[in-house]
Amino acid sequence: MDMLGMYPTFYVPQIGTAWVMGIIGTIHVVASHTSVGAAFLFALLGTKAYRENKPQLMDYVKRYGMLLLVFSYIIGSVTGVGIWYSITIASPRGTAGLIHNFVWVWAAEWVYFTVEVIGVYALVYLIGKVDKLTHLKLTWAFALASWATMLLILGIISFMMWPGSEVWYQTGSTNHAFYNINFFAHLGVRTGSMLVMATIVGLMVVSAMKDKSDALKKDVVRTLTPVGLIGGAVAVIMFFYYLQTLPANAKVMLDAHLLPRYATGMIAVVAVTAVYLVLSWLKPLSLRLWITVPLFLFIGIVGVWPEERTRESMRKPYVAGQYIYGNQVIARDVPGKRIKAEVDHIAEHGLLKVHPFIPERLRTITYENRLEVGRLLTKISCANCHALEPGAPLRNIPDKFHGSTDKDLIAAFINGPLKHGAVSYMPRIDLPAEEVDAIATYLADANQRRLQGIEEDAGRSAMARPEKE
Ligand code: HEC
Repeated sequence: MDMLGMYPTFYVPQIGTAWVMGIIGTIHVVASHTSVGAAFLFALLGTKAYRENKPQLMDYVKRYGMLLLVFSYIIGSVTGVGIWYSITIASPRGTAGLIHNFVWVWAAEWVYFTVEVIGVYALVYLIGKVDKLTHLKLTWAFALASWATMLLILGIISFMMWPGSEVWYQTGSTNHAFYNINFFAHLGVRTGSMLVMATIVGLMVVSAMKDKSDALKKDVVRTLTPVGLIGGAVAVIMFFYYLQTLPANAKVMLDAHLLPRYATGMIAVVAVTAVYLVLSWLKPLSLRLWITVPLFLFIGIVGVWPEERTRESMRKPYVAGQYIYGNQVIARDVPGKRIKAEVDHIAEHGLLKVHPFIPERLRTITYENRLEVGRLLTKISCANCHALEPGAPLRNIPDKFHGSTDKDLIAAFINGPLKHGAVSYMPRIDLPAEEVDAIATYLADANQRRLQGIEEDAGRSAMARPEKE
């Protein structure tokens, strides 16, 4: 019988690999969006300095550029690599799928990124050292290269949500994947919000400039704040357009689970930021670092983190292109890529027999190893989206079963809604009776142990063996 192309399952207790990815991703988004947005602010300020002959504006660009070099670019680059590491272990097949679809897009993105990094150094260190027009051209080239990195990545990230039509499944073409239904809306949201973030950081830089003239500060603030406000408006409008481009499963998640939890915070971020930008425009000399820094953190924590989580959660049960489930099983045929659906194959033979990374001694369920096997199967089938520990923050399964210790009830859920793919945000999970029984036994036992206050240790030994799992 055919082994599937599955990889070992990596599990981070309590938060799963999902949150590891989410935390790194959020930091990356904040750093990278600020950098790309700032590149455009530099281009605008540079143009103004050139046209109106105000070289002092370039002093400001230099300060802000230095800040980017020291913080944004370092943090952005390190977390960029961090994303690759974390997605590869969290979702090896999802990552492989994206590479197979977009290899030249990634390659192009890295070229633009190289231009961007060289560009920011050149921009900062060549101020006053080359003639002004050359410097201005360099600044615009830097801005466009920065935005190109965002544009290229967004085609890929938007495809993760879904291609939006049947065509790509038949052709497997990179163009059909890249120009998916989500792409322009998503690009609009990010382009707008990057300008907002860069403006707020720009105001931070102004408020820290004690040694500069009031006229310069005023000039900078009055140039930046309208850009931030327009960016914010574009982001909000494009966000509503973006909602129209989502698949049905995403809308269910959004309405049932995400908006009730996050909507208020996100509205607050938009409102507070808008008010702050307007006030800054009115009173450009009253900017204070102790307001701008917390505001930036507020945007990051109450705005960007929920936004990233929402996008990741809405995509459930899929991790990419509505053909790879979160638990790495292929959900459907993709003739254009010669990919075959796997759920029925697993149902027929059993996950224990077709998953290459099951320790040999666990391939057959016995009375002694049933908890260990149960834990392993739960990890493989569910832990991409659910923590295993009761009370854990990543929608832990013991709590999702309301602490039930009734094995039959748990098995009925797996054999009912999950087997028939009846829950729009969960994969269709169809397993042979004895495997369902092992999962149900393990989960019922986890809840039983919680009731009795016993630390869980079932199956730990199997998981800890590096050569097997
Ligand atoms: C691809 C992601 C994913 C996988 C894999 C997954 N689930 Fe879920 N599950 C979800 C999401 C999303 C929810 C919605 C709950 C939330 O966000 O709080 C959910 C909710 C649940 C619920 C609560 C009932 C409901 O309909 O909301 C139970 C019970 C559950 N999952 C059990 C399981 C079990 C058991 C497995 C493995 C056999 C599993 N899930 C695999 C994503 C997943």
